[in-house]
Amino acid sequence: MTKTPDSAFASPQIITGKARLAGVLGWPVSHSRSPALHNYWLRRYGIDGAYVPLPVRPEQFEAAVRGLQAAGFRGANVTIPHKEAACALADRLDPSAQRAGAVNTLVFEEDGRIRGLSTDGGGFVASLEADGLPVPVSGRALLLGAGGAARSVAAALQDRGVQVSVTNRTQARAESLAAVLPGLEVVPWEAWEAGLGAYDLLVNTTSLGMEGGPDPMFRPSLKAASRALVVADIVYVPRLTPLLAEAEQHGLKTLGGLGMLLHQARLGFREWFGQDPVVDAETEATVRATF
Ligand code: ATR
Repeated sequence: MTKTPDSAFASPQIITGKARLAGVLGWPVSHSRSPALHNYWLRRYGIDGAYVPLPVRPEQFEAAVRGLQAAGFRGANVTIPHKEAACALADRLDPSAQRAGAVNTLVFEEDGRIRGLSTDGGGFVASLEADGLPVPVSGRALLLGAGGAARSVAAALQDRGVQVSVTNRTQARAESLAAVLPGLEVVPWEAWEAGLGAYDLLVNTTSLGMEGGPDPMFRPSLKAASRALVVADIVYVPRLTPLLAEAEQHGLKTLGGLGMLLHQARLGFREWFGQDPVVDAETEATVRATF
């Protein structure tokens, strides 16, 4: 009898000699919530498998990947600082990874080749949709930040037909992003608040507003926003960032960052363990409990 996926509570993990294996490569990796999330799904679906943290120094990255492959792992997630190295190492890149210039998910194919995917941007869009929020397919989005997270979110939104603008403290970095993502518009950092009325979606992709980040009190003015603006933050600690609190004060719809974290994990889980996992309240509560 197959196990009902209603809940993982009271389900022991099954790890036999045939267990499917995956993990997350990072340095450091102790902050990662991916082991809690994937092992929760493994219990929930009664899958014979395990997902482990893999602390790997940058200079050991390639040796570690080859070793995991030799040891029969199905693949791995990749987090800071290995996302570009993973992109270079993969034999084949999905279009998502080509556009993002980074890989967060490695799949070890049966023929020995390594496939690289980038699921962060897709996870963001899936999270919007799962909350019933509109993806502005013929509208405009403004992204704060021009790092790796901005690139993957911008690429995923552009792929859905959204007209994307970015603004960044260091303008040269925003311009470098525009050079690799044609059609991206650059807005000066000093001008974005006043110009907010032109957008349907605002996404903070920086660490501003994050507990322990460069400016945990980051609370820009949203006075110029249209009433239909959706405000999203990829920061998920705290759950209600000052930016989202400001948006709520203006009566705007908001999206926190945890959904992106949960949804970006689904594709890897499906590739390695053969099951498309749900993201629901119990999934979210399981990960929240680790903070
Ligand atoms: P990631 O790859 O996760 O996006 P990153 O590459 O370090 O991380 O990018 C961090 C982003 O946060 C950048 O856009 C950075 O702006 P700069 O390019 O000007 O450094 C932004 N950021 C970090 N601290 C900031 C601060 N105090 N004020 C404004 N932007 C900040």
